[in-house]
Amino acid sequence: MSEALDSLQSQLQAQIDALRVEAVAAAEALERESDVPTARARFLGKKGAFAPLMQSLGRLTPAERPAAGALINVARDAIEAAFDAARERLVEKALQSALDRGRVDVTLPGRTVAMGATHPVQQVMDDLVDLLCAFGFELEDGPEVETETYNFDLLNMPASHPARDMQDTFYLQGGLLLRTQTSPVQIRTMQAQKPPVRMIAPGKVFRCDADTTHSPVFHQIEGLWIDKDVTMADLKGTLTHFLRMLYGPDRPVRFRPSFFPFTEPSVELDVWTGTRWMEVLGAGMVHPQVLRNVGYDPDEVQGFAFGLGVDRLAMIRYGITDIRYLWENDARFLRQFATR
Ligand code: PHE
Repeated sequence: MSEALDSLQSQLQAQIDALRVEAVAAAEALERESDVPTARARFLGKKGAFAPLMQSLGRLTPAERPAAGALINVARDAIEAAFDAARERLVEKALQSALDRGRVDVTLPGRTVAMGATHPVQQVMDDLVDLLCAFGFELEDGPEVETETYNFDLLNMPASHPARDMQDTFYLQGGLLLRTQTSPVQIRTMQAQKPPVRMIAPGKVFRCDADTTHSPVFHQIEGLWIDKDVTMADLKGTLTHFLRMLYGPDRPVRFRPSFFPFTEPSVELDVWTGTRWMEVLGAGMVHPQVLRNVGYDPDEVQGFAFGLGVDRLAMIRYGITDIRYLWENDARFLRQFATR
C-alpha cells in the first residue's frame, strides 16, 4: 500500500471510529423505543452520517475501495448492533414498568367503606319509639305545618289564652304555623278513631327560641292513652316504668305539678343528670274540654297524655352540654356516636 493510501485510509478510519463512538453513545442514551428508528437513521439512513463516507468511496481507486468499504461495513454492523441492543433494552424496560405499574400488593389492607352513623337524636328517638311500642302504643303521624285550630284551639288554647305566648310560634301565611308541639296529633288521632286510643307520635316541633338548651327545631314524642278507666295512677306508673327502662332503676326521677291548658291535672317529669334536674317530659290527664272538642264524652272515657323532649333525653344520655352540638353537623362530634 502507498503512503497516500495509508493516510487516506487512516483518515477514513479516524472518521469512522469517531462516528461509531458517537452512534454507540447515542444508542445507549436512548430512553424510548419509539426514538430508536430516528436515531438510527441519523447515522445509517440515506441522509445519515455514513452517507458522505459512502460517497467518498467513489473517489478512491478500485484497488483501494474494498478495504475502505470493509472498514465502513464493520463500523455499520457495530452501530446496527448497538441500536438493536438499545431497542431490546427499551422494549424490556417498557414491559418492566408496565408490570410495575400493574403490580398488586396482596398484603395491603382492603379499602374500607366509610359508614355513616345514626345521629344521636335519631338513636334516642328510635330507642324510645321501640320501648313505647312495646308498651302497646301505636305510631301516628301528623303535619309539621299546622293550623292554629289544631295546634292551639282544639287543645283548649283559644286565641286569648296566655299560654299561646309561651310557645314562641313561627307563624306562616294564611293562618298556618309550624307546629310548636306534637299535641295536635292527639286531636287528629282522636278525631279519626273511636276510643280506646293508645298512640305515640314522634316528630319535629318548632319554636322561635335558641340558647344552650333550646333549639328552634327540636323533637318530641307525643303519647296518648284514652280508655274507660285510665287514671293518674296509670300515668305515673307508665311514665316511671318507662324512664326506669331508659335510665335504669337507680336514676332519680321526680314528678312536679305543672300546667298545660289541655291537661288537668298536669305534671312535669325531671331526670337527675348527675349535677341538676332536667325537665324531659310534660304530662297530665286529658282535659274534659279537649275530649269534648273531638266528640268524645268525658263521662264515658278519660286518659292521660304526655310529650317528651327527645333532644333533652339525648343530651342526658350522652352527657352533651350544649344542644347546638346536635345541629352543627361537625363530623368530629357525630363520629363519637357511631355504633359500628
Ligand atoms: N305539648 C306540651 C309541650 O310541648 C307537652 C305535653 C304534651 C304536656 C302532652 C302534656 C301532655 O310543652
